[in-house]
Amino acid sequence: MSRTVYVNGDYLPEGEARISIFDRGFLMADGVYEVTTVIDSKLIDFDGHFTRLQRSLDELGIENPMDREAWLEVHRQLVAQNEVDQGMIYLQVTRGAPGDRDFVFPDPETTKPTVVLFTQSNPALVDSPKAKKGIKVITIDDLRWGRRDIKTVQLLYPSMGKMMAIKQGADDAWMMQDGEITEGTSNNAYIIKDGRIITRALSNDILHGITRAAVLRFAREAQMPVEERSFTVEEAKSADEAFVTSASTFVMPVVEIDGAKLGAGTPGPLALRLREIYIDESRKAAI
Ligand code: PDD
Repeated sequence: MSRTVYVNGDYLPEGEARISIFDRGFLMADGVYEVTTVIDSKLIDFDGHFTRLQRSLDELGIENPMDREAWLEVHRQLVAQNEVDQGMIYLQVTRGAPGDRDFVFPDPETTKPTVVLFTQSNPALVDSPKAKKGIKVITIDDLRWGRRDIKTVQLLYPSMGKMMAIKQGADDAWMMQDGEITEGTSNNAYIIKDGRIITRALSNDILHGITRAAVLRFAREAQMPVEERSFTVEEAKSADEAFVTSASTFVMPVVEIDGAKLGAGTPGPLALRLREIYIDESRKAAI
């Protein structure tokens, strides 16, 4: 079935959507994105994603082309028109297409941002077979730029990291800076030791995950102690449990790091409990 997608104000069949070859998103990765989850045809944490989008745009000096209500309307239209029950909405805003390639930013008066949104259905999102087995991760050096707090479309290195993991029979890679884990290729990373949930503190080194914020809030509400601090690869390998969070995976247990099994090598009880709480609470608050 052909999807309906959104491009610069128009709802179009996906095969008719067009972007200029001069778009700075294409030529320079000069753009930002968000991924919002859909469950029961409703949006999970829309306001968290909208707030982070605004922040990413502000950091790069790109004008936000729409207000909250307009963004919400496009999200809802796409969910309805594509009959998405479970899945996600991808949105991208770039600095636009000035009509030439130039390192200098174009005049925002004459070059307006490009806006693209599309949906991806995934009926197995909540009842994920992967979450029952857990995932295996390898560790790799974090070779990304220094502003990982901005959700830019520069995803080549994370994509390469994922491929390195797959080549080694794993599912994903955790990235490492000075021997300490920063985050996963497309998720935030956590370990659990003696009942304490440990995850790197927020800074320019990692993306400020919307799922991270929610999961830490739910963990604290459930009296689970949280430590926001860096941890080493060695500490991770000797943890009782580990997991990652993201809009598309919720809370996903990690059962192996660089070939070392965590505990019994099966998803840990606290990670599974957090996954359950996160899905239940997010479902209730979805709009
Ligand atoms: N990735 N860290 C990185 C590097 C990410 O790319 C993501 C999200 C996260 C988790 O953020 P959130 O909880 O807000 O989804 C952390 C999205 C899902 C992606 O690129 O598909």
